[in-house]
Amino acid sequence: MENLFQLGDHEDFFSRRCIWVNGPVIVGAGPSGLATAACLREQGVPFVVLERADCIASLWQKRTYDRLKLHLPKQFCQLPKLPFPEDSPEYPTKRQFIDYLESYAKHFEINPKFNECVQSARYDETSGLWRVKTVSITRSEVEYICRWLVVATGENAECVTPDIQGLADFGGQVMHACQYKSGEKFKGKKVLVVGCGNSGMEVSLDLCNHNASPAMVVRSAVHVLPREICGKSTFELAVLMMKWLPLWLVDKLILIMAWFVLGNTESYGLKRPSMGPLQLKNSMGKTPVLDIGALEKIRSGDIQVVPGIKRFSYGQVELVNGQKLDIDSVVLATGYRSNVPSWLQESEFFSKNGFPKAPFPHGWRGKAGLYAVGFTKRGLSGASSDAIRIAEDIGNVWKQETKQKKTTTRACHRRCISQL
Ligand SMILES: Cc1cc2nc3c(=O)[nH]c(=O)nc-3n(C[C@H](O)[C@H](O)[C@H](O)COP(=O)(O)OP(=O)(O)OC[C@H]3O[C@@H](n4cnc5c(N)ncnc54)[C@H](O)[C@@H]3O)c2cc1C
Ligand SMILES: NC(=O)c1ccc[n+]([C@@H]2O[C@H](COP(=O)([O-])OP(=O)(O)OC[C@H]3O[C@@H](n4cnc5c(N)ncnc54)[C@H](OP(=O)(O)O)[C@@H]3O)[C@@H](O)[C@H]2O)c1
Repeated sequence: MENLFQLGDHEDFFSRRCIWVNGPVIVGAGPSGLATAACLREQGVPFVVLERADCIASLWQKRTYDRLKLHLPKQFCQLPKLPFPEDSPEYPTKRQFIDYLESYAKHFEINPKFNECVQSARYDETSGLWRVKTVSITRSEVEYICRWLVVATGENAECVTPDIQGLADFGGQVMHACQYKSGEKFKGKKVLVVGCGNSGMEVSLDLCNHNASPAMVVRSAVHVLPREICGKSTFELAVLMMKWLPLWLVDKLILIMAWFVLGNTESYGLKRPSMGPLQLKNSMGKTPVLDIGALEKIRSGDIQVVPGIKRFSYGQVELVNGQKLDIDSVVLATGYRSNVPSWLQESEFFSKNGFPKAPFPHGWRGKAGLYAVGFTKRGLSGASSDAIRIAEDIGNVWKQETKQKKTTTRACHRRCISQL
């Protein structure tokens, strides 16, 4: 096996612990990685899951606020092959979702290798294998060698923190929404929430509920929809209508219904984009806000809507309309990004923004055993369908080959691991 690697890498190859994985390596133990692992388990394919954090679903466990609930009904958020427990509510809380994921991992005997952050992964043309290098918190390095690589590091791997003029001189507390837990600590404080996506809206609502005074920055247009229309989930209604009607018509109907429930959101400073919410989601990946109470607070003036930021100064923010606000703290609800370009040495399948280049539904499979799960901007249900496809694809090859010959895959170097 050593001969398979290029001579130039020879020293590098022997300087770290090297592990042959008899099956795919899955990078990331969030819902996408777990779903893929579970489907592979069902196909009888062994795998290894590498996770940089010390737990599964680290986004949900460590980087979300306390009041978070799923915004979509549970049937759209469950992973393949194991539904939510019967007694869980229509919109499970963050804790209930984490409990579900923990029991999912246990059910399918998924034991990720925690504290292993993938630093680089590249395809070795000579051997036809992937070389995945990790570093652990003890700084020890390991190289995993495998035939299939499944990228499951998520659309929200890193926080986006915009470089806004004067922010360094602001002097008060500045945090990203991923660090925000609850409004308890902000009681009586004036807080600028930058961004009006689902995070910005919900953080603003939470601040209000804890007697803080939030001002929310809305720099461009946004679609706000009610979470439910006549007791039925708006998302579910849209999915139903899309079975019979074209997307543009569904968009029109959803907007009319939203108008009946919410009124004219533009009158509160929330201008709607010219493109409909579903079309915008499909073409640009921009998620509409599902309102769970923030709009009521905007209407009552408890949440102040303000335009874009010009600059910060000590204890103050100046807005693009020239208005100046005294503020105590800033919460940057400015979104997230993929981290794939920082570690995957490949440019054919993934683009520079860390998402597969091929549009949905083609972005799940690359060349040379490379796969992506959870990058379709279709939330948990999108991740589940990717996972099923990937496991079937790998499973077919695996079954053919193991049928042909009882594999005598030899451990190439020092250790041989896999999970079966
Ligand atoms: C506040 C918030 C609420 C959300 N609510 C919903 C919702 O209600 N419904 C919905 O459908 N979607 C929701 N989403 C979208 C969310 O991204 C998905 O629900 C889901 O978490 C995606 O799962 P994932 O496994 O693809 O990514 P993640 O959950 O982000 O998991 C990726 C994992 O990969 C690990 N990782 C990253 N880089 C490396 C590396 N280099 N090496 C090793 N491991 C690595 C991370 O630590 C993480 O554990 C929400 C997102 C946010 C931020
Ligand atoms: N319970 C739930 O289901 C739930 C809760 C929270 C989040 N989520 C999901 O998590 C994902 C991330 O949501 P998110 O709300 O964190 O991020 P997001 O949807 O990407 O929204 C980011 C917001 O920040 C704004 N922004 C970015 N840079 C800015 C700047 N320099 N100045 C002013 N505004 C700026 C954006 O404005 P522009 O539009 O102008 O760029 C946008 O309003 C989404 O998929 C979302 O649906 C789900």
